[in-house]
Amino acid sequence: MASLETAPPNPTIMGPRAIQALARRIDRPLVLVGLMGVGKSTVGRKLAALLGFGFVDADDEIERAAQMPIPEIFETYGEAYFRDGERRVIARLIEEAASERNKVIATGGGAFVDPATRALILEQAIAVWLDSDLDTLVERVSRRNTRPLLRTGNPRETLERLKASREAAYSQAPIQVESRAGPHSRTVHAIAGALEAFL
Ligand code: S3P
Repeated sequence: MASLETAPPNPTIMGPRAIQALARRIDRPLVLVGLMGVGKSTVGRKLAALLGFGFVDADDEIERAAQMPIPEIFETYGEAYFRDGERRVIARLIEEAASERNKVIATGGGAFVDPATRALILEQAIAVWLDSDLDTLVERVSRRNTRPLLRTGNPRETLERLKASREAAYSQAPIQVESRAGPHSRTVHAIAGALEAFL
């Protein structure tokens, strides 16, 4: 396995047979990490469909476990409580995915920043860091108001601060792909190409 794979800006589109062959070589869950607004859930769902894998969104699972939407968890119990739940839910998803083998997991932006969650993902899965420039992030997060960390203050400033403070954690992912403005399918193919080179 190569140590680090950064996807080229213009990915080659792999054909169905190459994708099938790639899917067979992937023996661990794929976990998408990165900031709010990079498109982890949408890209993750499309990547899973391309590879013929299952898909699970960690934030959805946290909401299901808590029987409460994320903004309400933050409001009622605070961020530390959310992070505890997030750590437990991701550990369970990784454990389940290990037996199911073919799975794409999208995580919330703070998950990979937690040392225990990061160590688990790095050990048991293949982490893919999706990154975008600040303008793209700001535009994407403006589409819905469901992110507690962006409800107060200026979203651009918050994202800029989080980008700087979380980069050291995200950059530990062995695969790094830029999720540009434009169709998510392009990012999906960039991930496939990076996986092909990585495995
Ligand atoms: C968070 C990101 C959110 C969600 C929660 C906290 C973060 O997920 O987990 O609001 O700390 O960056 P998305 O990255 O899917 O928006």
